[in-house]
Amino acid sequence: MTRSPNKLIPVDFPTLPGLDALEGVTLGTDGDVDVIGYGVHSDAEVPDGVALSREALVRAGFDSQVGETLTVPQPDGPDVIVVGLGETERLTPAVLRDASAAFARASSRRGSLRLILPPGRLPLDADGLQAAYEGMLLARYRYTPLKAKPKDAPLTAVSVVIGDTPAEHTESAVARAAVAVRAAVIARDLANTPPGHLTATDMGDIAVRLGERFGFEVQLFDKAALIELGCGGLLGVNQGSVEEPRMIRLHYVPAGARTGHLGLIGKGIMYDSGGISLKPSDPMHLLMKMDMGGAAVVLGAFTGFQETGVTAEVTGWLMCTDNMPSGTSYKLGDVLTARGGTTIEVKNTDAEGRLVMSDAFVLADEAGVDAIVDIATLTGAALMALGTATAPVFANDDDLVEAVLAASASTGEPLWRMPLEQKYRSQLDSDIADIANLGGPYAGATTAALFLEHFVDDTPWAHIDIAGTMQSDGDDAWRSKGATGFGARLLLDTAAGFRSGS
Ligand code: BES
Ligand code: MN
Ligand code: ZN
Repeated sequence: MTRSPNKLIPVDFPTLPGLDALEGVTLGTDGDVDVIGYGVHSDAEVPDGVALSREALVRAGFDSQVGETLTVPQPDGPDVIVVGLGETERLTPAVLRDASAAFARASSRRGSLRLILPPGRLPLDADGLQAAYEGMLLARYRYTPLKAKPKDAPLTAVSVVIGDTPAEHTESAVARAAVAVRAAVIARDLANTPPGHLTATDMGDIAVRLGERFGFEVQLFDKAALIELGCGGLLGVNQGSVEEPRMIRLHYVPAGARTGHLGLIGKGIMYDSGGISLKPSDPMHLLMKMDMGGAAVVLGAFTGFQETGVTAEVTGWLMCTDNMPSGTSYKLGDVLTARGGTTIEVKNTDAEGRLVMSDAFVLADEAGVDAIVDIATLTGAALMALGTATAPVFANDDDLVEAVLAASASTGEPLWRMPLEQKYRSQLDSDIADIANLGGPYAGATTAALFLEHFVDDTPWAHIDIAGTMQSDGDDAWRSKGATGFGARLLLDTAAGFRSGS
């Protein structure tokens, strides 16, 4: 890996520690385990294995709600944990994902886990089973390579058992869960990595390795190549940095017949200081190492395409640089020229995400993609509007956004469609350039989306702002404290269902 000027004391640490940990977990075995979890509904019989009455559970404060667990210490043999599943009728894959995540957390000191679900009454098809595996694996994720003594036991084996599920069906659900979780874990690892340990150059090198391993092509564009391409948005933001920028182009080609060509764009700000429009000291700004969360989830999703058997061709553009103040920084009032020739007046250097992404939209249209989905930690306004659970999605095409929303419902990464209110478009007018990078004081997520829209031709396009959802302040269902990987599973699912014209 390239030594950056900020890495004077080399720290030898694994690049993708969460991925390494995930690979050490055996899935779906029927051997002995340390902990057995029993799923219990609030309105059905308590399973025999629990050996306690409903009254005893309630006296102990366990109401069988989703997210609740109760550890029943055992004199010998595996620990028993009772896992709330809520009402029978309300069980969905999303509920199972959350319940199994709670179970995995309750057994964080133990390595091998089995969750036993009551048979016969659930939507326990392959989707439910997949979700249960995902919940456990995602909940036990921790970013620990820089800690001397991690607290949790490493996970070694996970299984989910349902009375009468046929084995074959189980295998495919387990395989799909493993691929989806891997995508999210790679994204989390990248976003959790300290900014001094992960430069744009490093990000490119990691992408190359992942591409070789998981079946997609990776092309790196350094500063000279970006000058050649006229990517003035990415280059402008990079101006203040001692680190080189990278545009990372990912390309997945399906083995068989092709159902369309999907373009994915990710914001890759390795660290967002705000630039000359320097961010004030604020705990939130400690999170700006995660401003490459969009690029991370696109890269994560690509690692799952081959094994999922995605039938669309998919091209990704990760726009990577940090945003730093220095003597060479781009300035307020500067005018940048994006790929394609659009001139942009810089009114705030902290509105940098939209600048680096502008070049990518033009490249995606030039590549002739049938649709574009972009994902970015773009605006504090998205966090203000919808908080940390739900991400806003903006789109110029109903069919595409329906497909993205359907994927979101199945992966449990909630989205809410917001209007691309054209009334606000004039806020981006510039006196001296084609467009300005700053809107008015209100609807900041919308004006950012309107800026991006300027660079999209007539191609169907959806924009997901993950500024609020990229990170969790604490453990919360499948989200582990820190980077959530929000969007990785969603993009994988979107690509898996992608057909041009649909
Ligand atoms: N990376 C930030 C947005 C962000 C904020 C992400 C909080 C995650 C958590 C983005 O580059 C930014 O600084 N946006 C500005 C835009 C403004 C200057 C128009 C913002 O939201 O304040
Ligand atoms: Mn910014
Ligand atoms: Zn940013």
